[in-house]
Order: sequence, then C-alpha cells, then structure tokens
Amino acid sequence: MGAFRISGGHHLTGEVSVRGAKNSVLKLMAVALLAEGRTTITNVPDIMDVTIMGQLISRLGATVDFDSEQRQLIIDVPAELEQRADYDLVRQMRASISVLGPLIARLGVADIALPGGDAIGSRGLDMHMAGLERMGVKVTSEHGYLLASAPERLRAASIWLDFPSVGATETLLMASVTADGTTVIDNAAREPEIVDICEMLAGMGARIGGVGTSTLVIDGVDALHPTTHATVPDRIVAGTWAAAAAIAGGDVTVHGADYHHLEIALDKLTSAGADVTTASDMFRVRMEDRATAVDIVTLPYPGFPTDLQPQFITLNAVSQGVAMVTENLFESRFKFVNELVRLGADVRIEGHHALVRGRERLSGAPVVATDIRAGASLVLAGLVANGETLVTEVHHIDRGYDSFVTDLQSLGADIERVPLPLAASL
Ligand code: EPU
Repeated sequence: MGAFRISGGHHLTGEVSVRGAKNSVLKLMAVALLAEGRTTITNVPDIMDVTIMGQLISRLGATVDFDSEQRQLIIDVPAELEQRADYDLVRQMRASISVLGPLIARLGVADIALPGGDAIGSRGLDMHMAGLERMGVKVTSEHGYLLASAPERLRAASIWLDFPSVGATETLLMASVTADGTTVIDNAAREPEIVDICEMLAGMGARIGGVGTSTLVIDGVDALHPTTHATVPDRIVAGTWAAAAAIAGGDVTVHGADYHHLEIALDKLTSAGADVTTASDMFRVRMEDRATAVDIVTLPYPGFPTDLQPQFITLNAVSQGVAMVTENLFESRFKFVNELVRLGADVRIEGHHALVRGRERLSGAPVVATDIRAGASLVLAGLVANGETLVTEVHHIDRGYDSFVTDLQSLGADIERVPLPLAASL
C-alpha cells in the first residue's frame, strides 16, 4: 500500500466524480442478507472496506461478485446463513456490526465479534443492544463475542434512542422490517445513508414510514425479496473535494454528488470566502484568495458532519484568523491534530474544542494517517505545505476513498503513491 508523497504549492483545477457512499454501501451489503436470492447494488465505490465486507458476508454464506469496471455488486444469498462474524474481519472494519440486524432477523441468532474502540473513540453498542432486547432478543457477551438470540420471531417495540446513533438506527431498522407488528424508532438518525437503507429495504418489500425524519415507523412483513439498488453518493468524499479546493485554492467541479446533503459544509465554505455554485448532481467550489477561518460544531445530520471535521480543521489551519471547532460525536477525533501540528499548524485542544489559529503556510514533513478522514486531511494539508509531505499508514485512506491519488493528480496536485521502502528512506 505504500505511502503518499505530496509536493505542496499547486492549485487544484478541474473535475472529479464521486461514487456511492462507503457508509451506505457497507450497510446495503448487510441489508441484502435479509432476502434469499440475487440482489444487485450499483454505484459501488472500489474501496478496501467493500472488499472486507464482501469477505464477511461470503463467510456468512453469500456469494459476492464485484465488477470494479461497472462499480456493481451482485450478492447471491442462500436460504441458510452462518451465524458467526469472526474477529479477524470485524477488527478490520467496525461496520461489520451491520450484519447483526439481518442475522438476528433471519436466523434468530448471531455471534458477532465485539469490534472494540478505535482511533476516533470508544464507540459503544449499548443502544443497539437495548433496542434489540425490547424486541425480544437476549444479548450477552462472552470471550469477546456478542451473542444474540431470539427464541421466536422478533416482536415489534417502541424504542427511544438516547442519541440519534447511525449504527443503532440501522441495526434496529434491519431487525424490525420482518418483526411481528409495528416498530417505532424515535430519535432515529436522519443521515442520507439511513434514507438510502430505508429506500433499499422498501424496494425489497419492507414497509417503512417517516423516512428521513427522526421517527421511523416500521410495519413488519413476513419476508423480503431481492432488489436492485443504486447507492447514494458519498457526501463525505464530495465534501473532502470541496474542502480540498478551498485549502489549495483553485476551481473544482464535483460531479455525481447531491449538494443538498452538504448544504451546511458548502455554506461554511462560502463564509470562508469560496464561491460555491450548485446544479442538479454537481457543485463547483472556487477559491481565489486565502480563506477566512470558520467556526464548526459537529452534530448528527443535518448538523455539520464529524466526518468532515478534520478536513475543516485543516482548512482553518491555513486560513486568516482564528476559529473554534467543537467535536460532539467522537471523543478522540482530535487525535490527528498532533500530526497536523507536525506540519506547522497552530491548534490547541481543550476537551472537545479545538482552537485553530491560521498560518499562511504549512511545512512538509512525514506524518502518519490515524484514521480515514484524518488521513485524507493530512493529504490536503500536504497540498499547501512547503516542500514534501509523506503520509504513511495510507491503508486508512484506501478504506474509503476511491481513486484518491489519481483524482488529485488529475486536478493538478503533485502527489504519488510510493512504495514503503522508498518512503522509509525519505
Ligand atoms: N454510541 C454509543 N452507543 C451506541 C451507539 C453509538 O455510545 O449504541 C456513540 C458512539 O460511541 C459515538 C456516537 O454515539 O460516540 C455516534 O455513533 P453512531 O452510532 O452515530 O456512529 P457509527 O454508526 O458508529 C457512523 C459512520 C461514521 C460516522 C458516524 C456519525 C459508518 C461505518 N460509520 O458510525 O463514519 O462518523 O456514523 O455520522 O457508517 C467515517 O466514515 O470516517 C466514520 C467514522
């Protein structure tokens, strides 16, 4: 996988296209397990996490065929599924927990390795568990595995989430679509990826009301059927390109994105001094001068996405002025700031606030990607750093960004993937 070597100082100009959202497609692959037969998912990004999820659902018994040219997945689901998601795959990708809902719905039993925390936070599962227990599922944990079992068909329940958790909403949605009766999930997450899952489930015969609101009402049906579904565009990848244009300066048009899903981030870029224009499935960001720092507060959708927080800290780090960035979702998501500081950024962390004082220019250095968004942001920082920046541990970036390096090259960035032995000598 190597490292990325970036030579800073080039504006970005041109056009890029975004594919389907990582945080949707991984769950859509789990959703496919709910129906026996052949489901097709299109607009699939060619990223590591799709490969890992493919391996996971293959082990559960499905046949997975990914056509990387067509960006299309065909998932053939048998009548009988295995019940166990092993640690070797779950530890590589926390989204593996998404198979819990479909397995418990189809088999009445699931053994899922506990994913544990990760670089961005402790990442609890309590809301997933509490909701399932209300539906008649017994949940215990033993030897690092979460063991879930339901003696009979899941029963509908009224569930209030303490927090609009994306993962808990998804687990409970997938568990409830074939439960007995009408389930209500209140304070549900409203992310576009949740809407996408609801739309795919509806295409399979599920009956879900309140889609896109914080109250989901699910009338359980006896069984679902396979479908064909196109993945919603990746708003975080699109937002990363928008931030890249503002950080490096230039003129970038992003195709295949739904700008409605990014309104708050694009509005922040306008406040920062960018000229943002939108049309049906594209937007364009032009930045001629140095940006002005903008305050950010992350919140569940439609608030500012935590997955764009590192990119906007990077933007503030090279802007004029001072900004406060507040992170409300993941307690360790500022960890990457230590790497940004190695590039010369002036950022002070106080609890879940980061005070960022803009610097005119950063200074290239070797840095380590600690998670996917941190990794992408360090690359963006390298675009405006003097000299060379070397980002290692880029497997994090490969987890979720399709064609990141080649797209950046096409926009005029001086970036290449270098093999690790060479990287080590720099
Ligand atoms: N939480 C609990 N208990 C629960 C569930 C969540 O305490 O039962 C806490 C988490 O620990 C976290 C917060 O609630 O502090 C938010 O968690 P949420 O369940 O909403 O997030 P997730 O499903 O774990 C997904 C994305 C993240 C994205 C968040 C928020 C996937 C695979 N991951 O995580 O994406 O940041 O929603 O939008 O969909 C990324 O792509 O870089 C990424 C981290």
